[in-house]
Order: sequence, then C-alpha cells, then structure tokens
Amino acid sequence: MTPSHTPVLTQPVLDLFSPQEGTHLLDATVGLGGHAEMYLAAAADTQVLGLDIDDSALAQAKKRLQQYGSRVRLTAASYAYLDEVAGNETFDHILFDLGVGSHQLSDSERGISFRSTGPLAMKFSTVGQVQPKLPPSSLPSVKWLEQRLGYAPDAPELIAGIPEEELADILRQYGEERYARRIASALKRMSPNLPAAAVADEIIAAVPGRYEGGRIHPATRTFQALRIVVNRELESLEMGLPKAVSHLKTHGRLVVISFHSLEDRIVKRFLKETKSLTTLTKKPMVATQEEKARNPRSRSAKLRAAQKM
Ligand SMILES: C[S@@+](CC[C@H](N)C(=O)[O-])C[C@H]1O[C@@H](n2cnc3c(N)ncnc32)[C@H](O)[C@@H]1O
Repeated sequence: MTPSHTPVLTQPVLDLFSPQEGTHLLDATVGLGGHAEMYLAAAADTQVLGLDIDDSALAQAKKRLQQYGSRVRLTAASYAYLDEVAGNETFDHILFDLGVGSHQLSDSERGISFRSTGPLAMKFSTVGQVQPKLPPSSLPSVKWLEQRLGYAPDAPELIAGIPEEELADILRQYGEERYARRIASALKRMSPNLPAAAVADEIIAAVPGRYEGGRIHPATRTFQALRIVVNRELESLEMGLPKAVSHLKTHGRLVVISFHSLEDRIVKRFLKETKSLTTLTKKPMVATQEEKARNPRSRSAKLRAAQKM
C-alpha cells in the first residue's frame, strides 16, 4: 500500500506565504511533499528545497513532485543541520511541519505506532538506510549511553541502557505520563525484541483499567516520550529554528506547525525572543471544525508564524 499523509492547515500556510512567481520555499520537513506541492502549484516558477530525515518519505515526495523538475530539490538531512544543506542560500518562506507523519505511523514495520508489528525502533529515519546526523541529546544518561554504544540508541537500546528511575523521568517529562514509574518498571522487565504492539499491551497491563477515562490509548504518552528522545526532536528544533531565521530573506516568513505542548513552547519562546522576527500570530492558528472532522491528525496542530524584519 502506498503510504499517504494529509497535510494540515494548508489554507493558512498558503495565505501566510502567498507564493508569487519565482519565490523560494525551504520545506524543513517535506515528508510526502503535500505542502511542497501546494506551494509549487500556487505560482509559476516557485522553487522548493525539501529536507527530511526519512529517506523513504523523500522517495515518495520525489515521485509526487517529479512534474516540477528542477524547481524541486530534495535532501536527506535533519533541519538541525540545515546550514550544511542550504549553504549561503536564502528563502522567501520556511516551513516546519513537525512531528510524525501518517506515512510513518501507518508503516507497520517502523515501530512508531502502537499498532506496529515491527520492533519498537521509533526512528524516523529508515533503519539500515540513510542515517542523518542527530544533534547531541540534552539528557546526560542518553549522552552517556550514546558514548558507550558509539551511535544514537533506538528505543529498545534506550530502555535497556538507562536506569529505571531515569526512564520514568523521560516518560514524565516528555510524555507527561502519570503512571511513569509503573510503566518504566514494566518496560525494564520486557524482552528488548518485542514488537511495538506487544509493548503497548504490556503498558495496558501496567496501568489502571480506566486510564485517562478511556480518552487515549494507554501507550500514547509513553510512545510519544520515547519517540521524542530517540529522534532528538526537541534538541533538533532548538538547533533548527535559529538556523532557519539566518536563511530567511528580509520580509521573509517562517511558519511552524507543532503537535504537542513541548514543541509549541519552544516555538512560542523562540519567536518572542528573536529580535529579528515579528510574530504574525498572537495566538496559534488551529484547524477548523471541518478540517478536524476530515483529518483527525489536525486536532492537535498549532501554527505559529513570524516575519523577518
Ligand atoms: C508531519 S510530517 C510532514 C508532512 C509534510 N508537510 C507533507 O505535507 O507531506 C513531518 C516530517 O518531518 C520529518 N522530520 C522529523 N524530524 C526531522 C528533522 N529533524 N529534520 C528533518 N525532517 C524531520 C519526519 O520524518 C516527517 O516526514
């Protein structure tokens, strides 16, 4: 089955960028190329440089955008290191559409979703293929583990390699998980090679029956926390945002779409504290009721935008 992903908040993104003939977009998270395609179709001779750390997503984007020929360049890289890809180039518009794409959640081999039959790897980049450079972890225990292993640990290596108390701290801090201690203890007792779906079952068994009143799957917060730490999501964002601004033209616009409060907090603070930016969104923009009904992933999306002075 060809993976798919419905891009969120497309109209606000288009309105904020208002692509004109010949304008350039840096799409820092091009994914399957949904937002990029919209930008390319909006005006003649617009151009896109697209980055992603998931090379299988890039392969899909390449197919989808091939009709635009040399107007599109796609590269496997993390936005944390976008200087290395963008060189001296500047852009009229820069987009970050953060987090995990539906194409990654629905890939049962990938071990990102708790329905996955694959091992709990949690890496955005496809295991065994291109492994783009990740920024150093901000967590001392993860840094220590990485030094010992000689590479960035995936989720099973992280669970096995750090003390239970620190694993519980990660679940609390990055998943806002109330039952962090119980879950950390269950994770430590598990076999490291369990498929993600079986890990999710262990988590269900470790928490009370009426977990959060049944509103979310009991593994949601744990999987989110592990994914954020394994992919260095927050460290990447902290590194990528100032780099993006340095590649923005004067009067150029930056749009960031985030999907959880930890990301949104970083974006909000960054826009406020960066002297060269004027914030265009006093409050974050969110999806309409119609979009939320059509695309459930848009329910947690928050869009913030700014213009370079
Ligand atoms: C929500 S999807 C983007 C979807 C895209 N806007 C579209 O319309 O198809 C987020 C993408 O960001 C990518 N990603 C996550 N962390 C990244 C990083 N540090 N650098 C570059 N891409 C990253 C993921 O691999 C994923 O494909």
